[in-house]
Amino acid sequence: MVEVLVTGGAGFIGSNFVRYALARHPDWRVTTLDKLTYAGRRENLHDVLDHPQHAFVHGDILDAAVCAPLVERAELVIHFAAETHVDRSILGAGEFIRTDVEGTFVLLEAARRAPRLRRFVQISTDEVYGSVPTGASRETDELRPRNPYAASKAGADRLAYSYWATYNMPVIITRASNNYGPYQFPEKVIPLFVTNAIDGLPVPLYGDGRNVRDWLHVQDHCAALDLLIDQGADGEVYNIGGGNEVMNVDLTHRILATLGRPASLIQPVPDRPGHDRRYCLGTTKLRALGWAPHVPFDEGLRDTVDWYRRNEWWWRPIKEQDLAFRSYYRTQYGR
Ligand code: NAD
Ligand code: DAU
Repeated sequence: MVEVLVTGGAGFIGSNFVRYALARHPDWRVTTLDKLTYAGRRENLHDVLDHPQHAFVHGDILDAAVCAPLVERAELVIHFAAETHVDRSILGAGEFIRTDVEGTFVLLEAARRAPRLRRFVQISTDEVYGSVPTGASRETDELRPRNPYAASKAGADRLAYSYWATYNMPVIITRASNNYGPYQFPEKVIPLFVTNAIDGLPVPLYGDGRNVRDWLHVQDHCAALDLLIDQGADGEVYNIGGGNEVMNVDLTHRILATLGRPASLIQPVPDRPGHDRRYCLGTTKLRALGWAPHVPFDEGLRDTVDWYRRNEWWWRPIKEQDLAFRSYYRTQYGR
């Protein structure tokens, strides 16, 4: 059996990856390590918690005593755990520095001593390139992160790289564009707008709504990671971009149209400070290994909207009963 450690496996992408891995790799034994922050939820793993090849460990990546034995026996470490919401990083960056930078350091230190380790995947983000007015970011481009989340991810990205360059650790770094799909916490734009619109509530569009994101279905992301675990080269960075550049205002209209809701639900609100105008990833390097995204954006968005429509049990308790979420929502958007 291949011992696989997935950090942050109770979050959005991590839980989709755990499910993907268990379905495709009967010879993998997957351990999820997750702190269960506001964004990490056992419910995200409800159908695989009792899977015979899966174990769940409730723990913090900042805790070296928890991480050491898990990392020590792992052949593959896929490191998703992070604080991930840009708006929250603007409200307070401390937790982002601790988890995203220091937490990555704790895991890398443990990984240096792991005798069987053959791959450490540092899950980075396209936000490390900063705003890209024209063209597409290449893996060799300068990093110009512009918000505390992006800066903490850039720190972790380069720290992971340094463990390859210095200690010859089998690290690869992936930088994905905006993911969408099931189990995404309803603070991020697609699940927030979909669930608000289902309830006939306003959808708060930042600034002029003309910022562009490059959408990647989470299943396509999982497939790219699976390929890179096998075929990526140590010390290399790989962009994972969906190739679906969409302006926020257009995305919003598509969501409302899919739900049969009126455009009058769009509520322009003050812009996010330092709001990156556009992200766009060049994916030549990954495509050369044989990967291409398979989920057309229209289809993926329709299915995603449908998933939130069919799974109110998953998001309604967060939006209606979770006091921390309601307090965050008031702070971020007012009443
Ligand atoms: P998420 O917020 O849904 O999940 C993060 C998970 O990490 C949660 O389960 C949380 O409980 C866990 N976690 C947080 N702090 C922890 C700690 N100290 N110890 C252990 N677990 C901890 O995030 P996501 O959207 O699934 O993102 C996963 C990774 O992918 C992150 O590294 C993020 O930077 C990266 N990424 C996300 C996107 C995107 O569009 N969502 C795009 C590119 C890269
Ligand atoms: O690009 C990859 C990144 O994508 C990941 O690294 C981050 O973890 C992930 O959160 C995401 O960051 P964004 O800031 O791009 O995602 P978010 O869903 O917060 O916002 C997407 C766009 O929608 C962005 O231009 C801001 C806008 N937006 C967002 C919210 C929450 C709004 O207009 N209104 C909103 O209420």
